[in-house]
Amino acid sequence: MLKVGLIGCGFMGAMHAACYKKIEGVKLAAVADARKECAEQIAAGTDARIFADGNDLLENSDADIIDICLPTFMHAEYAIKAMDKVRYLFVEKPVALTAEEGRAMIEKSKMTGCRVQVGQVIRFWDEYVYLKNVIEQGLYGKVVNANFKRISPRPVWGWQNWLLDYRLSGGAGQDLHIHDIDYILSLFGNTNKFYSVKNTLGEKNSYVNTLMEYDDFAVSAEGGWGLPNSYPFKATFRVVFENAVIENAEKGFMIYDKDGGRKIQMQKAPCGQSDSELTGGGNISDLGGYYNELLYFCRMAAENRIPDRATLEDSVKSLEFVLKEINFDINK
Ligand SMILES: NC(=O)c1ccc[n+]([C@@H]2O[C@H](COP(=O)([O-])OP(=O)(O)OC[C@H]3O[C@@H](n4cnc5c(N)ncnc54)[C@H](O)[C@@H]3O)[C@@H](O)[C@H]2O)c1
Repeated sequence: MLKVGLIGCGFMGAMHAACYKKIEGVKLAAVADARKECAEQIAAGTDARIFADGNDLLENSDADIIDICLPTFMHAEYAIKAMDKVRYLFVEKPVALTAEEGRAMIEKSKMTGCRVQVGQVIRFWDEYVYLKNVIEQGLYGKVVNANFKRISPRPVWGWQNWLLDYRLSGGAGQDLHIHDIDYILSLFGNTNKFYSVKNTLGEKNSYVNTLMEYDDFAVSAEGGWGLPNSYPFKATFRVVFENAVIENAEKGFMIYDKDGGRKIQMQKAPCGQSDSELTGGGNISDLGGYYNELLYFCRMAAENRIPDRATLEDSVKSLEFVLKEINFDINK
């Protein structure tokens, strides 16, 4: 039985804990949070030991796996320490606050041999996995155009409101829109040809629109969290192929081909709790990709294999791209 040590028991920590409780062969053995009540809540019903903070857990637990769900500005510091302690480390996205921190994490993983997976969860979300397969197999011909969107109300649930301080979270570009950028790079690779605009009105760095040019097609991506609380979270895409359109939007996951439009039903990852218990005030409502990514990670650890999906290297590349978008200046 692999022992998981979870650092950070806020919104994402609660989501990960719910997943670990459903994965065979692992157990939540140690939890840490600066807010004792959050750690206690997550440990309830398990025999996990509770630690006062991340350092306490790293120094005093016997976890085989560490999972870091701390605010982004703390990722690098704790990840680098954790790599001295365990062979398998999971770090939430965005991998770090700065590209320098991300590169230091890569260096440390090379030195220690620690195997790291990053929470770029879209790579594990059923609709997106399906789309990637369709593209790779060329099922509907080549891609002609693609659009991705991820918009939400302001994230107000964070500890000490860290998410709303772009110096700590990177703002919507780095925290939210990075999901789509990481996925786009995983589909089509990198491009140096792009144009990006961020908001000048409203909260700083709360909206970004980017147009990326590839050899035969363009991809647009929009991400933002400047919307009022009454606006529902939306994560959508539309990909136009030579012979079909695949859209994931209000109507569900649809394929429109020569035979008309049809809905594809995705299998749901296990979700034993009600939506309200799991969302914890955040913007997503079932275990979906979170379960899939952690199941994969735990399987790699159990089989002593190297996780090669959502790697540290890829995640740093995605971070670097988003930072270029945020700092984009047409005159430079
Ligand atoms: N993959 C996704 O879809 C997704 C969604 C939301 C958040 N995230 C990422 O997950 C990470 C955490 O975000 P969140 O929304 O859970 O934030 P959060 O504020 O809800 O949780 C962070 C927790 O860390 C705790 N903490 C602070 N300092 C600590 C320390 N030194 N030791 C132990 N605990 C400490 C806080 O008390 C808080 O409970 C961020 O990097 C965020 O970008 C990912």
